[in-house]
Amino acid sequence: CSGTAESPAARLAGAPADAPRSHASHKGNYGDVAVIGGAPGMAGAALLAGSAALHAGAGRVFVGLLDPDAAAVDLAQPELMLRDAKALDLSGMTAVCGCGGGADIRAVLPRVLATAAALVLDADALNAIANDGALQAQLASRARRGRPTVITPHPLEAARLLNCTAADVQADRLAAARQLASRYGVVAVLKGSGTVIAGDGSTPPVLNLTGNARLATAGTGDVLAGMIGAALATQRPAFEAAREAVWRHGHIADTWPAGAPPLTAGALARQAPC
Ligand code: APR
Ligand code: MG
Repeated sequence: CSGTAESPAARLAGAPADAPRSHASHKGNYGDVAVIGGAPGMAGAALLAGSAALHAGAGRVFVGLLDPDAAAVDLAQPELMLRDAKALDLSGMTAVCGCGGGADIRAVLPRVLATAAALVLDADALNAIANDGALQAQLASRARRGRPTVITPHPLEAARLLNCTAADVQADRLAAARQLASRYGVVAVLKGSGTVIAGDGSTPPVLNLTGNARLATAGTGDVLAGMIGAALATQRPAFEAAREAVWRHGHIADTWPAGAPPLTAGALARQAPC
């Protein structure tokens, strides 16, 4: 995790422009998102990511669950199409992989890495890749095939991917994000207070200043992954999709009314803007 002496200064992330929807558009214009995760006991993480993708404006959202006994429908969110993770065809889709996947995510990762048109990798998917050279080679090959990939580690997940400690990552977050992006050929979103977004090195990383400790509650990372997935599904460049979603995710927390009930991950997902 050693930083380079000449680390460029990061740019600061600005507010993204709101793009009005064309009157003649249809759901196909806003893309298909498939969330993959939800091992037994952890379906909530996948459903939160799906909810965030839906509220962020994705045209259709599938949730592929790893729990063979998972429910067939989420009655509180009937828009989400629940599927068996092992049977979901990802061709042409933007996949969001990891959310509550536990160790079971390893079994589906080779197919996800090979077939998803665009991909967000979070949490347990990143932990599986950190331990597996074959998956790392598959991840690197996505860049060569021009398939956009965004990874969203928190500092400990980043440390596993870089073979160092979370303290090393936190000591130079800009350098860590740049190393993740270059080592794996991805857009790296290093989460935490002052999320850093790093891309392929042609532009300096971006430091995001929205967000606050209201986000320090379980599931907000899954919501961010779903929001990035929805942005990617509209064919936006991966770096811009990640930058915009991170800004909006933090902005929701910054504008949460004082005195209102605490911001939960579910409420955050429902605020995800179009
Ligand atoms: N300031 C700004 N942003 C914050 C702050 C803060 N003080 N605290 C948290 N956040 C933001 C992070 O930047 C990130 O976008 O909230 C989100 C938290 O994401 P995660 O750390 O991934 O947390 P979460 O997904 O809720 O954790 C649940 O994820 O990685 C797994 O195993 C882990 O079980 C855990 C699960
Ligand atoms: Mg997380």
